[in-house]
Amino acid sequence: KYEQHGSLSHMRVLVTGGSGLVGRAIQHVVKEEGGAKEGEEWIFLSSKDVDLMKEEETRAVFEKHRPTHVIHLAAMVGGLFKNMTSNLDFWRNNVHINDNVLQAALHVDAVKVVSCLSTCIFPNDTTFPIDESMIHNGPPHHSNFGYAYAKRMIDVHNRACFQQHGRLFTAVIPTNVFGPHDNFSISDGHVLPGLIHKTHNAQKEGTPLTVYGSGAPRRQFIYSLDLARLFLWVLRDYEEVEPIILSVGEEDEVSIKEAAEAVVEALGFKGEVLYDCSKADGQFKKTASNAKLRRYRPDFTFTPFKQALKDTCDWFVANYDSARK
Ligand SMILES: NC(=O)c1ccc[n+]([C@@H]2O[C@H](COP(=O)([O-])OP(=O)(O)OC[C@H]3O[C@@H](n4cnc5c(N)ncnc54)[C@H](OP(=O)(O)O)[C@@H]3O)[C@@H](O)[C@H]2O)c1
Repeated sequence: KYEQHGSLSHMRVLVTGGSGLVGRAIQHVVKEEGGAKEGEEWIFLSSKDVDLMKEEETRAVFEKHRPTHVIHLAAMVGGLFKNMTSNLDFWRNNVHINDNVLQAALHVDAVKVVSCLSTCIFPNDTTFPIDESMIHNGPPHHSNFGYAYAKRMIDVHNRACFQQHGRLFTAVIPTNVFGPHDNFSISDGHVLPGLIHKTHNAQKEGTPLTVYGSGAPRRQFIYSLDLARLFLWVLRDYEEVEPIILSVGEEDEVSIKEAAEAVVEALGFKGEVLYDCSKADGQFKKTASNAKLRRYRPDFTFTPFKQALKDTCDWFVANYDSARK
């Protein structure tokens, strides 16, 4: 299938964003869970190795490693509050990174690229559950339109690459990801790591925990290690250009209030929990269907939410000094 790079078994996989939440989970699955097969090479890049905003640097790093396969994770990423203030940066930075990476992969004849979209890029005005066919059906939520449109353009790029060059460049669509090595910043990070950090602070300082917003919005959360295991399956066995949603089922959606209560339980916080309704709620829900995933992988078992959350909280407490926050 990829003769130009030698034997069938010799896969050389380049992972952009290899130092982030998802990248570290893939490293774990590849190195600690036997996810790599014999003869495969895995290269994990961070922003210290290359600035993917720069076309020349990106091309040079791809020419150096000449990957047969690429997992493209690198992106400017942030939670609701960072998105609301930086739509221009989210749009431009991500468009540059994605165009540079996909073009460099084409340049070195990589046979497959798996990029990463997100369920928060879907139309705001939609029917539920959301599925893979609906990405371009209307404007995204106003809070993160820069990020959303930049991500949607990956799908445009992939389809054009297939049409013009016959390349299997595809994408996965995870729901909210969480796990060890997340960004636990309260102002810039996503809801779950932010809640974990805030709860830990409240516990240390003996103050109430204040959750931003009403607690009513609903989200599906996927543990980064489950996502990493599914990423490896997509890399090896998923042969569609059309993206695939990687998510727990609709029945596993939880409210922010339920998520906060689960964090409180996992950390053993005994103080008062308040909801600051003057802060934005973001999109009320973005319930995604995992029916396509289930057709391919009816057997896949997700780590139970509370167990994954407990492991994440334990990791944060144990790595408090070095964690991103
Ligand atoms: N987190 C979620 O809930 C979520 C949900 C859906 C989809 N996704 C997608 O999943 C992917 C990975 O996200 P994540 O949560 O793992 O993000 P993350 O923890 O913030 O990691 C981002 C990664 O991108 C790298 N990076 C950023 N800018 C770069 C640049 N200019 N040049 C080179 N590398 C750069 C970072 O390198 P450094 O470590 O060196 O800074 C880091 O490895 C992204 O495409 C994101 O859109 C995430």
